[in-house]
Amino acid sequence: MKTRITELFGIEHPIIQGGMHFVGFAEMAAAVSEAGGLGIITGLTQPTPEALASEIRRCREMTRKPFGVNLTFLPSVTPRDYPGYVRAIIDGGVKIVETAGNNPQKWLPALKEAGIRIIHKCTSVRHSVKAQTIGCDAVSVDGFECGGHPGEDDVPNFILLPLAAEKLQIPFVASGGMADGRSLVAALALGADGMNMGTRFIATREAPVHDHVKQALVAASELDTRLIMRPLRNTERVLKNAAVERVLAKEKSLGAGIKFDDIVGDVAGAYPKIMKEGNLDAGPWSCGMVAGLIHDVPSVKELIDRIMREANEIISARLGGFASARS
Ligand SMILES: Cc1cc2nc3c(=O)[nH]c(=O)nc-3n(C[C@H](O)[C@H](O)[C@H](O)COP(=O)(O)O)c2cc1C
Repeated sequence: MKTRITELFGIEHPIIQGGMHFVGFAEMAAAVSEAGGLGIITGLTQPTPEALASEIRRCREMTRKPFGVNLTFLPSVTPRDYPGYVRAIIDGGVKIVETAGNNPQKWLPALKEAGIRIIHKCTSVRHSVKAQTIGCDAVSVDGFECGGHPGEDDVPNFILLPLAAEKLQIPFVASGGMADGRSLVAALALGADGMNMGTRFIATREAPVHDHVKQALVAASELDTRLIMRPLRNTERVLKNAAVERVLAKEKSLGAGIKFDDIVGDVAGAYPKIMKEGNLDAGPWSCGMVAGLIHDVPSVKELIDRIMREANEIISARLGGFASARS
């Protein structure tokens, strides 16, 4: 399938694996890229720019196909050496960067000069238009369904994507709630050039996370996510667990006066315990409503091949059938 996204990034299928904290290691990114999608290493999961440089080298040993690095600009407990991470990306010869969070404008000149294509992840049409204006090459439009940070506007993809299509000239992918061939065809129908998946890629054999995490996603339904940190305007969609219930109880009792310091002990430093050790209640962890559509743990290649087979069948058989029925 050829779209503006496959052309822009030199990939076979219009499927991107979004950056994911403590999931987006070289193994994850390489498996997605090898299967014809675009795999993405999560930059800030690496503790230092040097560690990121070595993760990029490791990924290159696993695949000769294009892969990217995610750089997330969000409030963080430990200040990050962003110039160092940008340097590691450029020196590592990476040609695709997924930015997310705050406006990436400050970093664009250096990245662009190095011939890097930038896809910025946005949760609103106005931020998508801004990304286009400042010179990003593509946008990942992340609907309210998404795992991670859906922003504060709460607009789901059925509204967000067609609106983005009306306003954007640059290519964009649909992100949030994407799981299968049906998602891909729907994304294309709504005007996107492909799709970005997070949660679905965690439940794959190659995802370098504890089996408890994968099984939790298979067991979860679409009703099992919660929104935390809403009063801090740093909303995150996470899978419900004991830690999440604690955070929500604090948010309720402290009301509008809540500070990040009030919950830092409940949220900080949990990812390695969850993703590596499988201690699912160690803290909140991002998860999309799409968990309800996850029923198995295939290999990344099986997943991507299945998505493309389903998408092609839907386009040629199901949708084609409707068109001919009318004529
Ligand atoms: C466990 C997890 C960790 C994530 N970490 C990040 C991150 O560090 N940076 C980022 O830009 N997005 C992050 N995301 C968001 C994903 O890249 C993607 O936009 C989102 O998962 C799409 O929604 P979906 O989960 O419904 O597919 C994360 C998502 C998950 C599920």
